[in-house]
Amino acid sequence: MSEERSGTEMHSGQFRLLGQRRFAPLFFTQFLGAFNDIAGLGFETRAIHAVQVPDPSTGAVVTPLFLTSTFAQSAPGVHQGYEYSRSHNPTRGAYETCVANLEGARFGFAFASGCVGATTVMHLLSSGDHVVCCDDMYGGTLRLFERIFRKLGISFDYLDLSEPEALKGAIRPNTKLLWLESPTNPLMKLVDIRALSEIAHASGMKVMVDNIFMSPYFQRPLELGADMVLHSSTKYINGHSDLIGGVVITYDVELANDLRFTANAIGGVQATLDAWLCLRSLKTLAVRMQAHERNAAAVASYLESHPRVKRVMYPGLPSHPQHALARRQMTGFGGMLAMELDGDLEGAKRFLSATCIFTLAESLGGVESLIEHPAIMTHASVPKAVREKTRYRRWPHPCQRWHRDVRRSHRGSGRGARSDLIK
Ligand SMILES: Cc1ncc(COP(=O)(O)O)c(C=O)c1O
Repeated sequence: MSEERSGTEMHSGQFRLLGQRRFAPLFFTQFLGAFNDIAGLGFETRAIHAVQVPDPSTGAVVTPLFLTSTFAQSAPGVHQGYEYSRSHNPTRGAYETCVANLEGARFGFAFASGCVGATTVMHLLSSGDHVVCCDDMYGGTLRLFERIFRKLGISFDYLDLSEPEALKGAIRPNTKLLWLESPTNPLMKLVDIRALSEIAHASGMKVMVDNIFMSPYFQRPLELGADMVLHSSTKYINGHSDLIGGVVITYDVELANDLRFTANAIGGVQATLDAWLCLRSLKTLAVRMQAHERNAAAVASYLESHPRVKRVMYPGLPSHPQHALARRQMTGFGGMLAMELDGDLEGAKRFLSATCIFTLAESLGGVESLIEHPAIMTHASVPKAVREKTRYRRWPHPCQRWHRDVRRSHRGSGRGARSDLIK
């Protein structure tokens, strides 16, 4: 982890060098569309400069907002690369390329919401196809699969994939897609994206990872072998709780061609103003994620030692059963955490209605802190029986944790364990 951080510092150094010597040629090559020239630069630099060049006609440093539905043609079929904003829009295009670049990919497709992004991906499948999913996932995605796509002849299996080998037993000849969330919403379960991608690819399946909880700043599933990434840009990507959006990202040319066709045919593309706001927000994604993580680590650490809290689920805590995997496949632990109070539902409701600063509301990833009760709010559409089944089975019993903590403090490493949180 610390190596990742020093990588960031190294890139700030490159930024200075860029300022002294390479600025003009860099922009020139970007003009020509060769954005690979910036591929070696740091995340923060790419968030600000990938595909974002001064406007050639005015010199404006911020990508212009092209609020237009259509584009003039000089003769039928003769245009400057843009015909109609459902198909292409230069502002949305700049955002799509920039966010794809941050995920280490080439192709991005911005949608009106995360759910529309998921819908468009699912329309790449045909009736009779089978999808394997992780068992804990956002309630809206489960609703989309069970209430919409099952009717269209697509079948789904939901598995605890914390042991990657579990996937092998679920693959059928018609299994086309593996749908993962890591960490999951709401239980903060992780899956080994690299191991699962290898198993899926050996059977000719494609792998989609809902990367919403980490953002490309802390996790890049395509680098771990996945084929597509989904973000609800409503969350960290935009980060200001003022719009709804989604984006699907891939490096695979064939998938990109299919997504481009399907996105245009369905038409659920992101509004140009919202795409412009997302592009604006990408510039601060890194600093926002760092702050989110600092805050979440402090809150998780405090809650874990609180007598009225039964358990805290945060991948940055050494008590998280998949903390080692988190350290391996993520470069940070993010700003989301879940906790179980030692009490009943009424007590939980009282707690949720009494918080200060933390607003009781659905969503995440904005600059303000939110708190919610998934079963009553975001995951109300998940049947109770399914919720009960997807509890975190591998979670150590609180007594085991207590014994381990005592052992740790006897060894004098208790403080080290805490500083793990902050890396
Ligand atoms: C993990 C996850 N995936 C997908 C979505 C859907 O995104 P949207 O609300 O932008 O449609 C959400 C929304 O909360 C989510 O948390």
